[in-house]
Amino acid sequence: MSEKFLNPVNTQTWSNGRHVVSCTQVIQETWDVRTFCFVAEQPILFYFKPGQFVTLELEIDGEKIMRSYTISSSPSVPYSFSISVKRIPGGKVSNWLHDNLGIGQTLAAHGPVGDFNSIDYPADKVLLLSGGVGVTPVMSMARWMFDTNANVEACFIHSARTPKDIIYARELEHMCSRIANFNVHMICERQEAGHPWTGYRGFLNRPMLELIVPDFAEWEIFCCGPTPYMAAVRRILRETGFDMNHYHEESFGATPVDIVEEVIEHAEAAADADALLEQSDLVSVNFADSDKSVWIPRTETVHSAAARVGLHIPKACGMGLCGTCKVALKQGQVEMQHNGGITEEDEEAGYILACCSKPVGNLVVEY
Ligand SMILES: Cc1cc2nc3c(=O)[nH]c(=O)nc-3n(C[C@H](O)[C@H](O)[C@H](O)COP(=O)(O)OP(=O)(O)OC[C@H]3O[C@@H](n4cnc5c(N)ncnc54)[C@H](O)[C@@H]3O)c2cc1C
Ligand code: FES
Repeated sequence: MSEKFLNPVNTQTWSNGRHVVSCTQVIQETWDVRTFCFVAEQPILFYFKPGQFVTLELEIDGEKIMRSYTISSSPSVPYSFSISVKRIPGGKVSNWLHDNLGIGQTLAAHGPVGDFNSIDYPADKVLLLSGGVGVTPVMSMARWMFDTNANVEACFIHSARTPKDIIYARELEHMCSRIANFNVHMICERQEAGHPWTGYRGFLNRPMLELIVPDFAEWEIFCCGPTPYMAAVRRILRETGFDMNHYHEESFGATPVDIVEEVIEHAEAAADADALLEQSDLVSVNFADSDKSVWIPRTETVHSAAARVGLHIPKACGMGLCGTCKVALKQGQVEMQHNGGITEEDEEAGYILACCSKPVGNLVVEY
C-alpha cells in the first residue's frame, strides 16, 4: 500500500526531535490570525500534551530562523497538528508565514516540548484564561477535554480587543452548546461599528471572575496572554489569596533578540576585554569546535558568549522553553534556569541550554 495513505495500526508516534512536515491546510481565523495545519512526510501520530509547542525552523531571505508556536490542535486528532499565528506588525516570521506558507510547502518543526500543559496537572475543575493569541495553548486543552469526554468541569474565559478579534469564536460556542460541563465567556475590550457585542466589556477583573466562577479558589488555572494581561490575572488571584500552586501560565516571551544586534551590543560592552578583566570577575568560555574563546561576566549567558565571538547558536524562545539552543558542555559548570526545555536525561548527558545558562566558572562548550 502506498505510504501516503494513513494506516492507524502501524503509524509511528511523534517524539521530541526534528521532523519535516508539510502544510495541508490554511485557515483564516480572524483578520490577522491564520491556522496552518501540518502532516508529516512519513505519517506520524502527533501525540503531545495539550499546551505544548513546536519550534519551526525556517529559511527567510537566506537566513535560518527559528520561532516557537503552540500546537493549537489537540492530540485527540493525531494525524495532523496545527498552529495559529497572529500577524505582528513588523514581525519577521509571523508575516512571512501569513504571506508565504501555503498548502504543499514543507518545513522542519522541532518538538513537541513544554511544561505548560493540562496533562501534568490533572484536576476536576479547570479554568482556562486567555488573552488574544494566547488562546492557542488553552484551546488545545479545551479541544482535548471536549474530544475525550473528559470528566472535568471546564470554564473558558477569553479576552479580545474587539468582537472581530475573537479567535475560534464559533468553535468555542459549538463546544459549549454540546456539553454541560464546558462553559465559555468572552470579554471584549471595546465594541466596533458593525460588530454588535452583548458580552462582557472591558478587561477581566475581580468582580467579573467572581461572577463567572464564584468558587474559582478550588479550580486549576491555566493562563496565557500578553504580559500585562497575565500580570493582572496574577494580581487578582493573589488579592483573593488563591493558592498559586494551582496557577500555571505560559508567556510567548520577549522578541528573540536579533543576533546581529546581540553581537554589536556585546562587542560594545566588551570593547576592551582586558580592561573588563581588571574590573570584574570574568570567566573564560571556550567553544571547542570553532576554536574560539571569550571572557564574559558570570551574569551573561553561554548564548551571548557565543554571539560575542560571532558564533550563532540557534535560538527561538530565549527562555529555556523550546530546547533549540541545546549544546554539549565539555568542561565546567553552569547555572541553568530553564523552563522545561531540556530533559533530565539530556542534563545528565552533559547538555545545557545556551540561552539560559550562565557560567559558574571557566567553560568548554562543544560548538
Ligand atoms: C512557547 C511559545 C509559544 C508561542 N506560541 C505562539 C502562538 O501560538 N501564536 C503566535 O502567533 N505566536 C506565538 N508565539 C510567539 C512567536 O514565537 C513569535 O514571537 C511571534 O510570532 C513574533 O515573531 P515575528 O518573527 O513575527 O516577530 P519579530 O520579528 O520577532 O518581531 C516582534 C516584534 O518586535 C518588533 N521588532 C523586531 N525587530 C525589531 C527591532 N530591531 N527593533 C524594534 N522592534 C523590533 C517587531 O516590529 C514586532 O513588533 C509563541 C512564543 C513562544 C516562546
Ligand atoms: S532558545 Fe529556547 S531553550 Fe534556548
